[in-house]
Amino acid sequence: MTQELTPTRTAQRGWWRDAVIYQVYVRSFADSNGDGIGDLRGIRDRLPHVAALGADAVWLTPFYASPQADGGYDVADYRVVDPLFGSLDDAAELISTAHELGLRVIVDVVPNHTSDQHAWFRAALAEDAAPAEGTERDGGAARERYHFRPGRGADGELPPNDWESVFGGPAWTRTRDGAWYLHLFAPQQPDLNWRNPEVHEEFDSILRFWLGLGVDGFRIDVAHGMVKAEGLPDIGSREQAKMIGSQVLPFFDQDGVHDIHRGWRRLLDSYAGERIGVAEAWAPSPERLALYVRPDELHQAFNFQFLNCPWDATAMHAVIDASLAATASVGAPTTWVLSNHDVVRHLTRYGAGDDALGLRRARAAALLMLALPGSAYLYQGEELGLPEVTVLPDDVRQDPSFFRSNGQDGLRDGCRVPMPWSGGEPPYGFGPAGSWLPQPDTWKSLTVEAQTGDPLSTLELYRSALALRRELPGLGDGEMEWQESAEGLLTFTRPGFACTLNTTDHEAELATPGRLLIASAAPVFSDGTVALSADSCAWWAI
Ligand code: GLC
Ligand code: CA
Repeated sequence: MTQELTPTRTAQRGWWRDAVIYQVYVRSFADSNGDGIGDLRGIRDRLPHVAALGADAVWLTPFYASPQADGGYDVADYRVVDPLFGSLDDAAELISTAHELGLRVIVDVVPNHTSDQHAWFRAALAEDAAPAEGTERDGGAARERYHFRPGRGADGELPPNDWESVFGGPAWTRTRDGAWYLHLFAPQQPDLNWRNPEVHEEFDSILRFWLGLGVDGFRIDVAHGMVKAEGLPDIGSREQAKMIGSQVLPFFDQDGVHDIHRGWRRLLDSYAGERIGVAEAWAPSPERLALYVRPDELHQAFNFQFLNCPWDATAMHAVIDASLAATASVGAPTTWVLSNHDVVRHLTRYGAGDDALGLRRARAAALLMLALPGSAYLYQGEELGLPEVTVLPDDVRQDPSFFRSNGQDGLRDGCRVPMPWSGGEPPYGFGPAGSWLPQPDTWKSLTVEAQTGDPLSTLELYRSALALRRELPGLGDGEMEWQESAEGLLTFTRPGFACTLNTTDHEAELATPGRLLIASAAPVFSDGTVALSADSCAWWAI
C-alpha cells in the first residue's frame, strides 16, 4: 500500500491518511489591523506561506465568540466569530482562499465545556440565582446541560467530589446560590453534560453549521473528556494531574465517549469530500488511543506518546512500534506530532537548556517524523526552528494555568509567541504594530524572510522535505521496515527509501545506504561509508 505520485494528491480518497497538517494558533499567526492580535484576515494573507511550505491542510485554533479566559477554548457562541479575530465573512473568505491554494481547512470544536458566558450557562445560573418563592433550588432544565451538584459537608461547603482541574485547584466552583458546577479546566469553562440529548443535538447543529461553510474537518478538543463516570466517583488521590494520560480516570477516557464520536463520524460521512475528525485525546496507551480511530469513529488522534518521547533511540523505536501496531490493528494511520500550543516547543525540550543542540535535534526529529508512515501535524513556527520563549515576564502572561498552581506547568504562553515574518525588529512583520506577547530580539535571523533562500535554514529544510514527501512514492501512508543499526542509531526503509537517525553526540559511521536526498546536518562521505553527524537525520534513495 504505497502512496502514488500524483499532482492532485489532495483530491485523492483517504487524503488524510498521510496529510501534513499545519496548526495555526490564530492569535499568533498574523495580525491584519494593528491591535497586536492575530486574526482571520491576517491568516488569509499569509496562507501562501503554508501552501509554499507544502502542507495539505491548516488547522485553526478556536476563533469563536469568547471572553478569552483560555485563549478561545472557552466558547460563548459557537456560530459567531469573535470580533477580535474578524467576522463570519472573513472566515468564509479564509476557507475559500485556502481551497484555492489547495489547502484544506480544519477548525477546532470545543465540546467538553462552554464558556461561563455561553447563553446556556448564563441561563443555568440565572435559573437558580433568584428562585421564585416556594420553589426548590434543585436546578432545572438549564442546569441539566451542565454538571451541577450540591456540595458535601454540613452546609454543602465542600466540593461534591475530589476531582482536580487540569489547570490546578478543585474542579468545582460554587455558585452564589450554593450549588457547585464542574469544570475540568478553568472555572470559566463549565463542563457540559453529554448525557443530555439537547447537548448532542446542539453540537450536531454546530458541526453542520461549519461544514456548510466549507470546512474539511474538526479538531476535537478534549475528545476524551465528554463523558464522566456514572455517579462522579472520587478518585482518592491529589496527584491527578500526573494521572492524566497514564490511566483511565472517571472524567477522562471513559468508554462512553466513543458513542459520541461514532455519531459524529456518521454526520461527517454524510457530507461529500471526506471531512475528517481528529481527536485531541489523552489516552493511557496506544491501544486505548487507537479506539478513537476505529473505522466508524474519528479519522485521526494525535500521538502524544511520540510527542512526549525523550531523545533516545531505544525509546523512540519502542514508541514508533507501539503506535504503528496499535493504529494498524484498527486500520488507521498514525498521526505524528512534535509540538502544539499546549506544550514546550520540541526544540527546547530536546535541547534541555542548549538551543543549538535543541535545533540540531529538532531538525532531525522533523525529518524522522516526516519519513514515518501516516499523517503529521506541524505547529506554526517549528518550520523556522523557533525555540520556546522562556523569559516572558509574569505581567504579560495570559495562560490561565499560570495563575492556578499545581496543575499544568502554566508555561503555555512560551510556545504562543507571535510568528516572525520579516524585518529586523519586533513585531517582525506579524502586523502593523506590536504583538500580544513580546517577541525576542534574537528572532531577526529566524524570520521567514531571513530564512527563505538559505539552503542551510530550517525553513528550507522543511520545504525540501515536504516537497520530497510529495514526490517520493514510498513516503506517506504505507509500510516501513526497521534495519539493524548500532546503539543510538535508527534506520528504517520504505519502498525505494531509507531514513537514518543518529541520536548520539558523536559521528556515526556506516555503509552508505544509498543516494543522499536530504539531511538535517551534512554527512561526510568516504569510500563506501558515510559519517552521520551527531544528532542528525538523513533521507536516502535506495
Ligand atoms: C485543550 C486545548 C487547550 C485548552 C484545553 C481546554 O487541551 O488544546 O489549549 O486549554 O483543551 O479547552
Ligand atoms: Ca488583529
